[in-house]
Amino acid sequence: MTSRHLVLVGLMGSGKTTVGLRCAELLDRPFLDTDELVAATAGVPFDDIWAAEGEPGFRARERVAVADAAASPTPLVISCGGGAVLDADNRRALRATGVVVWLTASSTELASRLVHDDSRPLLAAGDKTATLERLGALREPAYEAAAHVQVDTDGRAPDDIAATVVEELQSWSG
Ligand code: S3P
Repeated sequence: MTSRHLVLVGLMGSGKTTVGLRCAELLDRPFLDTDELVAATAGVPFDDIWAAEGEPGFRARERVAVADAAASPTPLVISCGGGAVLDADNRRALRATGVVVWLTASSTELASRLVHDDSRPLLAAGDKTATLERLGALREPAYEAAAHVQVDTDGRAPDDIAATVVEELQSWSG
């Protein structure tokens, strides 16, 4: 079994946290969410950082969190905030130390998973499906560049997705 991190990337609502927690149980590895690491390191909630520093401030902190997570000597399951892969240094660090799995789903399904969720500032205004569609198109090249493997999650239960993701990690050589 590889000692690389298992890294989950993908749009908001793609299941990185839910599936990541399940993978961490299956692999008996610690789970780390980069949004949580940003908040824990800053000592203030995510919303306060975004409100006070805007997206640029958050992205600078996210870069540090990704570098710290990637540098962990213990193999982790890392769930990355949906925009982390936009940064080339983040992509390099994650690809160098992890097996990077891109969780995909249609914009309609992503939006339906987030219908009662108001925690994402990028989805606060306007139609969620349309925003996710736009972000998906904009970010596709970055996810492609970051990921070693793509796993489609449309219509699938978290346990089923986690089993596929763990198989991908287990079949990784190196
Ligand atoms: C973001 C995704 C969020 C969080 C922030 C920005 C994005 O994380 O990092 O709201 O740019 O897609 P999740 O993907 O875990 O929701």
